[in-house]
Amino acid sequence: MKLYFVGAGPGDPDLITVKGKRLLAEADLVIYAGSLVNPALLQGLKAETIDSNGLSLENTNSRILEALKQGRSVVRLHSGDPSLYGAILEQMRPLEEAGVEIEVVPGVSSLFASAAALKTQLTLKGVSESLIITRPAGTTLEKDELKALSRHNTTLAIFLGIDRIRDIVDNLDRPSDTPVAVVYHASWPDEMILQGTLADIAELVEKAGIKKSALILVGGVVKRTGFRRSHLYRDR
Ligand SMILES: C[S@@+](CC[C@H](N)C(=O)[O-])C[C@H]1O[C@@H](n2cnc3c(N)ncnc32)[C@H](O)[C@@H]1O
Repeated sequence: MKLYFVGAGPGDPDLITVKGKRLLAEADLVIYAGSLVNPALLQGLKAETIDSNGLSLENTNSRILEALKQGRSVVRLHSGDPSLYGAILEQMRPLEEAGVEIEVVPGVSSLFASAAALKTQLTLKGVSESLIITRPAGTTLEKDELKALSRHNTTLAIFLGIDRIRDIVDNLDRPSDTPVAVVYHASWPDEMILQGTLADIAELVEKAGIKKSALILVGGVVKRTGFRRSHLYRDR
């Protein structure tokens, strides 16, 4: 019995891996993670498809187990890359204990789709050579670490926080003119990019009415300026 956790990519159905696409085509059952998985990826599949939104972990796992025991091939489809805020380990544990073999197929995270949308680098010589991936405190993270993390002066990628953008920017310990970009629905047809600073990005987001499915990127890299040339392209 083998279950595949597959990264669906950020939205554009062409941004799933070749392996992920093949596994979807071969699957008999696909359990996908709600609104962030583009329905276009599910069109034309022979598989039965189930949205896991609103299903308990126990319910999802029992459906997976039942299907695997019947010899059906099952894919658990997660948005972006499953390793980022995908809560996959808690799903895997009981299945592994029931004798299920697991394979994880990585995907293109919305973080990388957002960098692509901005046509920038997340690490940029002379601006920031480090990246912190984080989220505000919520149901799974009790203590907010954003203030302390912001002091490292790296690029900050903040998931799962757009509905609290004002609190987040107020909480960051960086100058108010620090560049910030918000990318809504990176790689989807209605992708939207907002560029501002810590001082004005919350207002821009509120005016645009963005309340979910967006990534907040903080730091000079979003401006695409001020960098030094790397040695990669020097004449040899
Ligand atoms: C539960 S997390 C899943 C992240 C996913 N595993 C990934 O690698 O992109 C959901 C959060 O990811 C971000 N997100 C997911 N898809 C996005 C997209 N296409 N554009 C911008 N942000 C996105 C948002 O911050 C959203 O609140």
